Amino acid sequence: MPRSGKTPPKPPRKAPARRSARRAAPAPPTPAAGPERFPGESPGKLWGGRFGERTDARVEAFSESVSFDRRLWRQDIVASTAHARMLAKVGVLSLGEAAAIVEGLEAIARDIEAGRFEWKAELEDVHMNIEAALTERIGAAGKKLHTGRSRNDQVATDLRLYVREAIDELTALLEAAAAALLTLAQREADTVMPGFTHLQIAQPVSLGHHLLAWREMLVRDRARLADARQRANVLPLGSAALAGTVYPLDREFVAEQLGFAALSENSLDAVSDRDFAVEFCAACALLMVHLSRISEELILWASPLFGFVRLPDRFCTGSSIMPQKKNPDVPELVRGKTGRVIGALNALLVLLKGQPLAYNRDNQEDKPPLFDAHDTAAACLRVYVALLPELQFDRTRLREAAAEGYSTATDLADYLVRKGVPFRDAHHAVGQAVAYAAARGCALDALSLEELRRFSDRIEADVYEHIRLEASLAARRTYGGTAPEQVRAAIARARGRR
Ligand code: ARG
Repeated sequence: MPRSGKTPPKPPRKAPARRSARRAAPAPPTPAAGPERFPGESPGKLWGGRFGERTDARVEAFSESVSFDRRLWRQDIVASTAHARMLAKVGVLSLGEAAAIVEGLEAIARDIEAGRFEWKAELEDVHMNIEAALTERIGAAGKKLHTGRSRNDQVATDLRLYVREAIDELTALLEAAAAALLTLAQREADTVMPGFTHLQIAQPVSLGHHLLAWREMLVRDRARLADARQRANVLPLGSAALAGTVYPLDREFVAEQLGFAALSENSLDAVSDRDFAVEFCAACALLMVHLSRISEELILWASPLFGFVRLPDRFCTGSSIMPQKKNPDVPELVRGKTGRVIGALNALLVLLKGQPLAYNRDNQEDKPPLFDAHDTAAACLRVYVALLPELQFDRTRLREAAAEGYSTATDLADYLVRKGVPFRDAHHAVGQAVAYAAARGCALDALSLEELRRFSDRIEADVYEHIRLEASLAARRTYGGTAPEQVRAAIARARGRR
């Protein structure tokens, strides 16, 4: 093939081996589009027909995606199988051709599975690697697989299949994590701990209630994924390059085989938008934000300064210099990995924002962030599904901490309200009582009745009953509140919902 400029013509470097072996002498340099050559036989490329020189090695290395999109091989084979069957159904392929294609694809799947498949960067991407291998394996019928199809609708289809499966995987993990939290919450419904606002001790709450708050976040994450799944579950195949195709494709048949709930309505949109991937990454990013918040609490709680929770040794690591250290690396890593997933979402949004209709090669860049968001979210959920059931809470320490920060001051104010004091006045009186106790370094219920009555003469001997931690907790019985009775009701509702 002649190179441009003054370089003397050289015989093609990548001439198919079998062909050159059959020839006595190397073929004279001819343009790739020479009449005696089938397009599929031009050196290395399935699209080589109109090209007069081979791709610059640097461009080939720069533009290949097979190094990362080979991960879509299963989806690609499943989608190609459905396409081939459909082509036979509508009479574009013979039954024999379709059968050969399906068998060939199955054999390729076995090779890939067994690590026997040779991926070639010069074939660009997963789609052309598989198609080229198919033709090598079954001959002429392989060259018909791409009839009525483009890589543009092909890759959009593969990706939607991928996102659908990723959603199903994350959904199962989220359900497992939520179930683990439900079990923990049941165990800790009566455990008193300090509730915080501004990370200052606020009011006593049930640890079970706190764990159910974590669970609620994950339940919504699951719902968000389910919602995103509906919009991902639409078949683009049949859109071809951008405009649809001249062949009488039966798109419903393909959708049915691939389990898609609907057909894309517009070919230009179907091949070009990746909003379903954005939605998936957004759901992953939010899910990671939730895991990161949970992680942050576990890291604090595992610190001896809190001492609320013990993480089993096998989920921690030590320090190479400080012998006493036991570090909460798992939650720290989850918190740290959150940035990657938020980054993936950002990458996809920016990838899309400047693209005119329809397909642009920019979209090839959707895969690394998408895969990374999926892998990271799945890995974090998996490790939490393992860790959560192992958490050991120090109930004594939790109770102590709840008693520390005048956490029942609101209960004293509510007590005064019940005795006829307007809330604002009650609030003021209790504030003074807290300052008095703090100056003496003691708790509210350590003050004598006489001392307490200095702040309000409505205070009577029954006050101590009302400012106990358990009483404070039990009194918060609004729907969704922290009273253990409400926590148990919430658990029952959660179990009913599943
Ligand atoms: N590897 C490409 C991608 O991931 C496949 C589609 C390429 N289409 C094209 N006309 N170059 O988006």
